[in-house]
Amino acid sequence: MTTDQALHPAIRVQGIEKSFKDLHVLRGVDFDVMPGSIFALLGSNGAGKTTLVKILSTLLKPDAGTATVNGHDTGTEPARVRESISLTGQFTAVDDVLTGRENLVLVARLRHLPRPDAVAGALLERFDLAEAAHRRAGTYSGGMRRRLDIAMSLIGNPRVLFLDEPTTGLDPQARNEVWRTIRQLAGQGTTVLLTTQYLDEAEQLADRIAILHQGIIIQNGTLAELKQLLPAATVEYVEKQPSLEDVFLALVGSGPDDRPSGAPAPGKDHR
Ligand SMILES: Nc1ncnc2c1ncn2[C@@H]1O[C@H](COP(=O)(O)OP(=O)(O)OP(=O)(O)O)[C@@H](O)[C@H]1O
Ligand SMILES: [Mg+2]
Repeated sequence: MTTDQALHPAIRVQGIEKSFKDLHVLRGVDFDVMPGSIFALLGSNGAGKTTLVKILSTLLKPDAGTATVNGHDTGTEPARVRESISLTGQFTAVDDVLTGRENLVLVARLRHLPRPDAVAGALLERFDLAEAAHRRAGTYSGGMRRRLDIAMSLIGNPRVLFLDEPTTGLDPQARNEVWRTIRQLAGQGTTVLLTTQYLDEAEQLADRIAILHQGIIIQNGTLAELKQLLPAATVEYVEKQPSLEDVFLALVGSGPDDRPSGAPAPGKDHR
């Protein structure tokens, strides 16, 4: 990455609006994502996360506003944008009938890369899929499919990666594997914009978190900045009702002459 690239946002979103008929999904969305960082877009179902990702990856045109990716305008230079990005959609692009290796080779061929076999081999190693390379992807676990999906999206070394809900439906172990992969990618300089409904995912991964709500970004900051929006946790006094076991043990002790301190001796006046 040159110094010049490092100073400019990898993604710049300004005043993006999008409606579907009467439904105003995006009402003026603004944010920047710095190169090599992980940016999490949080929002509930239907908030417009996928719509925004589609606009940034040139699959959809906004009604108003501009977006640049790697310095290229998504509206006027869509081909240049597409050359430098990759999108892993909410629903995986993996072909179940093909093996892991065949899926990767197919994408490398579609991207007109020389030596597609070598490209596939390197990615299978990098994503711990070498042993399963010759199995049909339909037999893969959820985590393996996601890893294959992300591996496919990295063919051609995109500088910006859009991940739409990368871990939805995965078990905790598979989520951890995908998180590890995403961290590695950012560590190597890839800019990652991911959408998620999981607060812990944003907390674990993101350098910055933006919350999309009712068509606008209502908060955008680091985790520490967002946490400062709420007062520090206060310690509350909670009265604990004794259980029958507590009462029983207080009365009889745990053995002969083994009365717990504070427990009244049976039958004695203890005023
Ligand atoms: N092509 C379309 N035509 C009509 N309405 C659409 C279209 N695409 C999205 N919408 C609507 O826009 C709203 C935002 O959808 P979007 O898929 O962007 O939400 P999301 O934040 O990605 O939700 P989820 O968390 O469920 O993936 C929804 O109400 C959806 O029904
Ligand atoms: Mg979505």
